[in-house]
Amino acid sequence: MARTALVTGGTRGIGAAISKALRDAGYTVAATYAGNDEAAAKFTEETGIKTYKWNVGDYDESRTGIEKVQSDLGAIDVVVANAGITRDAPFHKMTPEKWQEVIDTNLTGVFNTIHPVWPGMRERGFGRVIVISSINGQKGQFAQVNYAATKAGDLGIVKSLAQEGAAKGITANAVCPGYIATEMVMAVPEKVRESIIAQIPTGRLGEPEEIARCATFLASDDAGFINGSTISANGGQFFV
Ligand code: CAA
Repeated sequence: MARTALVTGGTRGIGAAISKALRDAGYTVAATYAGNDEAAAKFTEETGIKTYKWNVGDYDESRTGIEKVQSDLGAIDVVVANAGITRDAPFHKMTPEKWQEVIDTNLTGVFNTIHPVWPGMRERGFGRVIVISSINGQKGQFAQVNYAATKAGDLGIVKSLAQEGAAKGITANAVCPGYIATEMVMAVPEKVRESIIAQIPTGRLGEPEEIARCATFLASDDAGFINGSTISANGGQFFV
């Protein structure tokens, strides 16, 4: 029977590429989104992938949404915590609201996404947890104290879950994308974006599909001995 995968923020950007790659690899996929109904409807029309709307920052919404996915599609075997936002500002201009919104979505949202599926994975003795972190969680970034803190925190979640899940057949790993050609990166002022591209030895932005291939590999049986790891896919911009 096909395994079921849940991808948060799975209708746009990197998440959409992951949803499609997992579908192509034979998974039954559920993709979540927070607000853009139009993009979600278009995504389902184009891909046939079922979408679900909830705010990953809200635990009860996440739990209820996940229950609905499992009753529609079956137990979730693979969870990809991808949903993320930016609220960039230099620290002296960063408001508590900008801090909190990013913490709620990018860090608490990862907890809220994994926690409801974790007991089922433990019971069944199989699970794949994949968290989409960021190069900026590894190296920090001007104007991203909030975002970098969450993405570094996501790596702590993965390394801890790897230790807790190993004996139950669950792996937990992270992918740290560099700068990828998505709406999020395109929202960076053009001059700043050009200066970022100049720092990427490969000389270009990454493609969402390049991240999706990392996630699909981590989800596979072939990746069973990889646990607590981080795949950095950043065109050589930063090494850890
Ligand atoms: N390093 C050092 N100084 C920098 C800098 C940097 N990387 N970027 C900007 N500055 C400086 C500017 O030169 C300017 O200096 P002066 O005041 O001396 O001229 C100052 O910082 C900018 O001040 P502003 O008051 O103009 O800043 P602002 O309030 O308008 O904010 C910004 C502008 C939000 C910082 C904007 O430049 C920006 O968006 N930068 C990009 C941040 C970034 O890389 N975000 C990543 C988004 S993609 C992503 O997050 C996905 C992923 O995982 C990789």
